[in-house]
Amino acid sequence: MSNLDNQAFWMPFSSNQAFKENPRMLVSAKDMHYITDNGQNLLDATSGLWCVNAGHCRPKIVEAIQRQANLMDYSPAFQMGHKDAFTLANRITNLAPGHLNHAFFCNSGSEGVDTSLKIALAYHRATGESSRTVFIGRERGYHGAGFGGISVGGITTNRKAFGSMLPRVDHLPDTHNIQHNSFSRGQPKWGAELADELEKRIISLHDASNIAAVIVEPLAGSTGVLVPPIGYLEKLRQICDKYKLLLIFDEVITGFGRTGPCFAADAVGVVPDMMIIAKGLTNGAVPMGAVLTRQDIYETIVNNSTPDTIEFFHGYTYSGHPLATAAALATLDTYEEEGLFTRSQEMSPYFEEAIHSLREFPNVIDIRNMGMVAGIELEPKVSSNTTLAYKAFLKCYDKGLLIRTTGNTIALSPPLIITKSQIDEIVEILGSALIEIDQ
Ligand SMILES: Cc1ncc(COP(=O)(O)O)c(C=O)c1O
Repeated sequence: MSNLDNQAFWMPFSSNQAFKENPRMLVSAKDMHYITDNGQNLLDATSGLWCVNAGHCRPKIVEAIQRQANLMDYSPAFQMGHKDAFTLANRITNLAPGHLNHAFFCNSGSEGVDTSLKIALAYHRATGESSRTVFIGRERGYHGAGFGGISVGGITTNRKAFGSMLPRVDHLPDTHNIQHNSFSRGQPKWGAELADELEKRIISLHDASNIAAVIVEPLAGSTGVLVPPIGYLEKLRQICDKYKLLLIFDEVITGFGRTGPCFAADAVGVVPDMMIIAKGLTNGAVPMGAVLTRQDIYETIVNNSTPDTIEFFHGYTYSGHPLATAAALATLDTYEEEGLFTRSQEMSPYFEEAIHSLREFPNVIDIRNMGMVAGIELEPKVSSNTTLAYKAFLKCYDKGLLIRTTGNTIALSPPLIITKSQIDEIVEILGSALIEIDQ
């Protein structure tokens, strides 16, 4: 690969200059591993980018995509349909909690977020409450890279270059607090009261009659694994109910077993009005996302129009794409046949114990976890623009382990097929990397 001209590809969310000087190229993947262009095995502790929950190149999914590509490559999504898209909508909504029984398909988490915001506006308009246009996100939230997503998102670097974004957005405070919750295991005890900000400040300031929806990740992943405090999401639910605000859970990374059960909503026992899913929906094999909505949201919008008209002017060329639906159906089969959500719940105590054994390692200031996701926060030391966490990423890569970093936090979210000895391997390699980068 040394003679490859790597200049034309403008890489997303990457340091293009550094990467192109010193590329890291992957050529194949199987189960828990990638293979690099040097022939090195990389143990995948991040499920790719939080998406390959069943492990890589799983036979059933590969075969389903191959079969579908031969049968029908594409089918128009507007005013036309194909059976698998309807079957998939039924299967996902059967998995979803509460009355989330309609699915709107898109191609990514970002599109899912924008779709959910548009559904919220259309719903309030259809109920005659068109003044409800304010969205409430959360500081440090990540909701993808679209303008809607960065507006309700709360990651400074993702927002600062892009002007005024959506008007009329406010943010809850984030739930991260090392002073109160350091080294907590599972949901931290302190912090439910942070939800009160919604009622005390935000609703007082904007008035509920102007607020369309509150959107949060039940567990914030991309911003450094912020686990929801006990009672926090329950409180948000109560306040949203009281003031008729729609509550949207962005489950793009928490969906499909990451926190134990199928959705984080199940883990905390809180049912949102809409849920955004993507990534693990197809095991990352073909891009796909979806917004799941409550029955009455769908009915309110659809029944607000006369039968022959388009009720909701929104959608994508590839909504419910045949290859994506084939991959998703095979992925759901794989999760089910291999009992991967149960496996996630059974493996998570071992994972928790193993990850927390890194507590005394150099520069570790916090470790937090829930289900099969963990964050290890390091001292915020930066040398030549590189955080310690990023140095750990480079060191681990050289040692055959793929981790993910965001700011000063290392995020681990391995495929749910991981074995105990592979968990040990992650901890051993990461531990040695933490020691070496301290020298
Ligand atoms: C919570 C959350 N929402 C939305 C997205 C955006 O998804 P995509 O990159 O598929 O657009 C992500 C991606 O990591 C995410 O973590």
